[in-house]
Amino acid sequence: MPMDKCLALVGCGKAGLSLALALKSAGWEVAGCLSRTPESTERGAQWLASKVLGSLGHIPQEATLVLGIPEAAFADVDRQIASEDPHLKGRVILHLSGSLPSRALEICRLRGASVGSFHPIMTLPDPLTGARGLRSATFAIEGRPAAVQVMRAMAQTLSGKFFTLSPRGKTLYHAAAVVASNHILTLLADSQDLLVKAGVAPSAAHEAFQALAAGTVENFYAAGAVAAITGPVERGDGRTVKNHLQALKRWPKELERYRIMAMGALDLARLKHPDRQGAYDALAKLLAEWQSR
Ligand SMILES: NC(=O)c1ccc[n+]([C@@H]2O[C@H](COP(=O)([O-])OP(=O)(O)OC[C@H]3O[C@@H](n4cnc5c(N)ncnc54)[C@H](OP(=O)(O)O)[C@@H]3O)[C@@H](O)[C@H]2O)c1
Repeated sequence: MPMDKCLALVGCGKAGLSLALALKSAGWEVAGCLSRTPESTERGAQWLASKVLGSLGHIPQEATLVLGIPEAAFADVDRQIASEDPHLKGRVILHLSGSLPSRALEICRLRGASVGSFHPIMTLPDPLTGARGLRSATFAIEGRPAAVQVMRAMAQTLSGKFFTLSPRGKTLYHAAAVVASNHILTLLADSQDLLVKAGVAPSAAHEAFQALAAGTVENFYAAGAVAAITGPVERGDGRTVKNHLQALKRWPKELERYRIMAMGALDLARLKHPDRQGAYDALAKLLAEWQSR
């Protein structure tokens, strides 16, 4: 069982170097690294003060193989490792992608490797910042039992925060992460944009709702969405919601996003106030009437 706390890195980019650096400074051994180009391999070896692996055939038997490669390279690298690694059977091989399951390394798996996906839920812009961030990151873990054991040990070494996913849940997990980051950003951008349309100076509009947005996020994490929901939808205030829809009608995209989000708020409000279903039914009707106007 490769619990030697020893890894080899293939793909010396932002994520791979961040992880290898963080683990190395916490006592793991980095047996060597290899990347696409000699320049990138050399740079990786310098960051990690480790050996350059001559080829995929030179990965030490006891090392966990960490793949810090882009998603587009998975098929090629999977095939290459399967044909060149003499110690493939029993080897733990981990990739760092949030969107792909461990099955993305299917050829290696079929030839006896224990594959896993180890996704740090953290942005890793460069090795130093990334290594620091990983000490407080949460990790999403999915894969074969031996790989899961190694990933748990890695997460324990770094932050102690992790959860495991089934292979079938991996894509949905990634969609959830996109909602929590990209979609929240889209809504904040909408909000800022509408504020400017309302006549607020762009410089002021950027900061105007900072405390409101931060407070909402804080309330969500403290008490959950149902407890945190407030506002005209929650109050069943159809007149105000109708005024909003009318004010937004010159901007069809923003109007549609407002309408869809209001329907989501309505679902939460229904859970919070089971006694207000009449008012909420009227709101649902109003929102449906404004679809694609
Ligand atoms: N960066 C993040 O914030 C972050 C966070 C979580 C997860 N991830 C995941 O980490 C993985 C890598 O992302 P990244 O941001 O680190 O990308 P990146 O900075 O572009 O690094 C990718 C590295 O892979 C190397 N590479 C490309 N094709 C290869 C091949 N065929 N064989 C060996 N090495 C190869 C590249 O080498 P060259 O430099 O020579 O092209 C580069 O060093 C992705 O799965 C990504 O989803 C990234």
